[in-house]
Amino acid sequence: MNSLNANLTTINLTSRALKYQDGILSILDQQLLPLEKTWIVIRDPEQMISVIQTLKVRGAPLIGVAAALSLADWFKNTKPTRTAFLAMAKKMREARPTAINLMNAVDRMTQVPETEIVSMAFQLFAEDVRLCEEMSLCASQKIADGDGVLTHCNTGGLATVGIGTALGAISKAWEQKKQIHVYVDETRPLLQGARLTAWELDQMKIPHTLICDNMAGYLMSQGKIQKAFVGTDRIAMNGDFANKVGTYSVAVLCHFHKIPFYVVAPSTTVDKNCLSGKDIPIEERKPFEVRGVEGSFGSVQWAPETSPVYNPAFDVTPVELVTGIIIDDEYFSNKDLRNGSLKQRFF
Ligand code: MRU
Repeated sequence: MNSLNANLTTINLTSRALKYQDGILSILDQQLLPLEKTWIVIRDPEQMISVIQTLKVRGAPLIGVAAALSLADWFKNTKPTRTAFLAMAKKMREARPTAINLMNAVDRMTQVPETEIVSMAFQLFAEDVRLCEEMSLCASQKIADGDGVLTHCNTGGLATVGIGTALGAISKAWEQKKQIHVYVDETRPLLQGARLTAWELDQMKIPHTLICDNMAGYLMSQGKIQKAFVGTDRIAMNGDFANKVGTYSVAVLCHFHKIPFYVVAPSTTVDKNCLSGKDIPIEERKPFEVRGVEGSFGSVQWAPETSPVYNPAFDVTPVELVTGIIIDDEYFSNKDLRNGSLKQRFF
C-alpha cells in the first residue's frame, strides 16, 4: 500500500474496542463492559471527544488512535478549512489531560500536509499494533514460568489497538506456555481491572484472580506475587511516570517486599517536555465516581452527597520505585533510567 494515498473508505481496521469498516468509525462502549457489548458509531470529532471524556473509549494508546481516526474521518467527509481543522484538533487534544499519546497523535495529524492526514491516521493505527507486539515480546522475557503477576487497571487490547502493553506482555508469556497466575487489582473508582482486565483474561483463558486494591500488600506478604506489571499514560525524561491512580501504592508495596516492578509502554507515551513526574498534569474527575459506582448494572451511591471528595484519575510513581521500563523493544533498567538514558534515546 502507498501510505501517502491511503483512502480510509477502502481500509478496514479492526481492534478489540475500535473499528473502521466501510467508512464507518465505531467504538466499543467500555463503560458497559463486561455485561453489555455495545458498539457506538462515531459521527464526528465532537462525539469522539465526549466518548473519550466519559471513558467509553479509554487507555492511553487507544485514545490517541481513536482521536486521529475521528479527525481523519471528519476531514475526509467534510473537507474543513485548515483553520477549522486545527481548531478541532486543539479541542480533541484537550479531551483528557494526562495521556500524552492523545497529544502526540493529534500533533502528528496536524503536522502533515492535508494530502497525508488520512494516511497518517492509518499509520498511527498500524504503528500501535506493531509497538504492542514489540513491547509485549520484550517485556514477556521478564516473566518466568510459575510467576504470580500483579497488574493494575486495564492495559490490554481494550486500551490499545494491538495486544496491549502490560497485559500484552502477560498474554505473550502465557502464549510462550509459561504457567503464570495473574492477580488483578479491581482499580477503583472506575473498576477497569474488575470490569475490563478480568474480562480480557477470561476471554484469553489466562488463570487469574480478582482482588480489591487494598489486598495486594497481603498477597505479597503471602508470597503469591513475584512481579508487578503496569502500563503508563506518560513517561517523564527522568523515568518517573503517571498511571492509573493506585499504581504508586503498588510500587511502594513492591519496593517493601522486594518484588520487581515493571512498566510497559510504546514510545508514543514518552513526553520529552516533562523532565520529571512533577511536570505531568493529573486529571481530576467528578466526585460521583468516588461516592458510588455507575455502570450497565445501574448506579448506586453510598457516600453522603455533602461529603467532599478528591478524585485524581492518575498518580505519579517516582523512578526510584521502578525496576525497569520496557519501551517498544528496548529495556531500560533503573540504573539506565537514572543515568539519563531516556534523554539520550529520545533527544
Ligand atoms: O482512565 P483510563 O482507563 O484511560 O486509564 C488507563 C490507564 O491508566 C492505563 O493503565 C494506561 O492507559 C496505560 S496502558 C494502556
